[in-house]
Amino acid sequence: MTLGIPNHIAIIMDGNGRWAKSKGMPRTYGHKAGADTLRKILTYCGELGVKYLTVYAFSTENWKRAKEEVDALMFLFKTYLKNEKKTLMKNNVRFIVSGRKDGVSKDLLKEIQNLEEETKNNTGITLNIAFNYGSRAEIVDAINKIIENNEKNITEEIVEKYLYNHLPDPELLIRTSGEMRISNFLLWQIAYSEIYVTETHWPDFDKDELMKAIESYKKRDRRFGGVK
Ligand code: FPP
Repeated sequence: MTLGIPNHIAIIMDGNGRWAKSKGMPRTYGHKAGADTLRKILTYCGELGVKYLTVYAFSTENWKRAKEEVDALMFLFKTYLKNEKKTLMKNNVRFIVSGRKDGVSKDLLKEIQNLEEETKNNTGITLNIAFNYGSRAEIVDAINKIIENNEKNITEEIVEKYLYNHLPDPELLIRTSGEMRISNFLLWQIAYSEIYVTETHWPDFDKDELMKAIESYKKRDRRFGGVK
């Protein structure tokens, strides 16, 4: 028996820089193309009945990049927040962001908050953007909140309660551009996710690529540590 469409897909959108370089263009050109790809993939996921899409847009480690690139990514995200509002509302998309606030400008935090507020009652797909996100940071933040709240008898459910968001775990994790690593993304949540890696760089990831990933997922034998 094959599996159905995943409820939650998580994506490490890698390869924008390499894609741009292969065209003799600056890295920021690749990020801009990456934002266009995200727009398209969100639409396809919505049409397919995927309920949650989590994407890694900026990690807690990405601050180490050249200032010019960091500024460009911040600008791109701000532009995305402004320009996408109408489309997200029209397509009934709930928008949320997961990550730390430190280091992010007040302006950008305000735009994020506004869009989260505006789309909070939408009932279609949820777009969860991991921004200034690191999974170890998320777990450390959760532990600190657990201590602050004087929680006792810690269970998995209690840890989950203090993570940034409360979405079902992703069934499928896609990484573009070929690297076989997790890069501090959703370490808790992907405990049993099926992993799909493609050589395709993120700006070239399209509907066919998405369908290939889903078809591969559908054939997987998910045992969650048990025996069949
Ligand atoms: C990884 O490629 C990509 C990023 C660090 C940024 C991801 C951002 C986007 C897809 C666009 C912006 C998103 C939004 C929400 C507007 P890389 O730069 O590490 O590529 P490389 O490994 O080839 O150098």
